[in-house]
Amino acid sequence: SSAPVLTIDGPSGSGKGTISALVAQRLGWHLLDSGALYRAVGYAAGVEGLDLSDVEAVTRCAQTTRIQFRAQKGAETRVIVNGHDATDELRTETAGAAASAIASVPSVRQALVSLQLGFRKAPGLVADGRDMGTVIFPDAAFKVFLTASAAERAKRRYKQLKEKGLGVTLSGLQREIEARDSRDASRAVAPLKPAADAVLVDTTGMGIDEVVAKVLAVVQP
Ligand code: C5P
Repeated sequence: SSAPVLTIDGPSGSGKGTISALVAQRLGWHLLDSGALYRAVGYAAGVEGLDLSDVEAVTRCAQTTRIQFRAQKGAETRVIVNGHDATDELRTETAGAAASAIASVPSVRQALVSLQLGFRKAPGLVADGRDMGTVIFPDAAFKVFLTASAAERAKRRYKQLKEKGLGVTLSGLQREIEARDSRDASRAVAPLKPAADAVLVDTTGMGIDEVVAKVLAVVQP
């Protein structure tokens, strides 16, 4: 497909998920939450009781796990993994850590490439992730890299998880986020880093509307 793509990459808690969904809605474009794919594979591997460091087993898991997104009117999209609605399980920091572990395996990433490319459809795609602008859609016309301080990102994630009724502590969360970020940034394949042609947006202290406006301005100057 030659449909236009806007890539939004950045670390966890940078606001990517919220901003990507709002921007896709405003543009009337499709949305790819690539993190949900890695979370789904990590989750499926857990259900199967796989050793996450067993490269062959997790690769086979990535190749065979069925992942479906079910859009809801006025509510968040549900993620169905092998026929089971795993939306709530996928949100946890445990699922994030499992995702980050399997995401460092090149053959796991390879197994998810064509699935991600398939999201590129008219009238356009907003792609949310870590390597959207660098690896999956390097030819994207619009690229944004969202950042925020680690303290601010931990605070946002804390609020999000608290609202969902999940028991977490702020300090524990900040430690987990920093560990996951450093693993994502230091891995050999598709490390978390801005594409050379990405517009950097530091969202520390910015409100959601302000960030949405900044990102929309990249597509519609
Ligand atoms: O964005 P989210 O927090 O849902 O991503 C979970 C994990 O999946 C990240 O920490 C990262 O390790 C991995 N991921 C990735 N490449 C992407 C999206 C997510 O490696 N494009």
